Amino acid sequence: MPTNYDIRDEIREYWSLRAPTFDASPGHGIREGDEKQAWLNMLERQIGAPQGRTVLDLACGTGEISHLLHDYGLKVTGLDWSDAMLAIARQKAIDRNSGIRFITGDAENTREPDASYDLIVNRHLVWTLVDPQTAFRHWFALLKPGGSLLVIDGGFGGKNLLQRLLRWLSRPTGPQADPALMTLHENIRKRVYFNNGARAEQIVDMLKIAGFSDISVQTNLSEIKKAQAGHMGFIKGLERVVSYRYIIQAQKKPT
Ligand SMILES: C[S@@+](CC[C@H](N)C(=O)[O-])C[C@H]1O[C@@H](n2cnc3c(N)ncnc32)[C@H](O)[C@@H]1O
Repeated sequence: MPTNYDIRDEIREYWSLRAPTFDASPGHGIREGDEKQAWLNMLERQIGAPQGRTVLDLACGTGEISHLLHDYGLKVTGLDWSDAMLAIARQKAIDRNSGIRFITGDAENTREPDASYDLIVNRHLVWTLVDPQTAFRHWFALLKPGGSLLVIDGGFGGKNLLQRLLRWLSRPTGPQADPALMTLHENIRKRVYFNNGARAEQIVDMLKIAGFSDISVQTNLSEIKKAQAGHMGFIKGLERVVSYRYIIQAQKKPT
């Protein structure tokens, strides 16, 4: 293994291995019908009418959220550092004729121009950021004045007894349960900044330091969770409903 191979390479490699089966696992692929509608309702509540705004979907993976944002009416760029994930996202864009621009890059340093997006969205990225404070400062710079950030994430470790029990009972099966993959995941989880779980309060404090204001945290995601649970088995669905998940919205003040 080359000596400069680091945790970022491991994270990228892990997700590249997950790419082929990512959409098939409930809660990742967004099912048409009630689940997609629940996400669209959330967007309407959080960001209002699309009004032709531009959005950067950071760590877009297979492009599920990118396509949701596109279908909502936004002009979308999706960024990810895994070529395997991006290949699926790009094929989806061809199949759906969405014309979404998908680019390769690191969410902590995108190389996109400052003040170039009205919105930045990411789902399930923050918990594996290696240097979140630097990333948040960068996202603040990428937004136009008056722009907003939406962080959709969760403390996937689940702290209380019920959450832990349900997580154990609904532990992965299928391709995700591959022992090598699970070891890789565990080795990454232990070494990332939020190795104790990404709590919303901690992220809010860091967003303030990065310059964001008017920050709100939504932890009632019951419409989305219930719709997702409907596509899962009983135990996994229950685990989803009680899991700690949140959406943080933060603003860059207009000048
Ligand atoms: C759990 S998946 C989520 C994908 C997508 N956001 C979704 O919700 O469907 C995590 C994704 O984050 C990407 N990722 C993690 N850290 C990243 C970084 N620093 N820069 C770019 N992509 C990153 C991975 O390659 C993977 O595609």
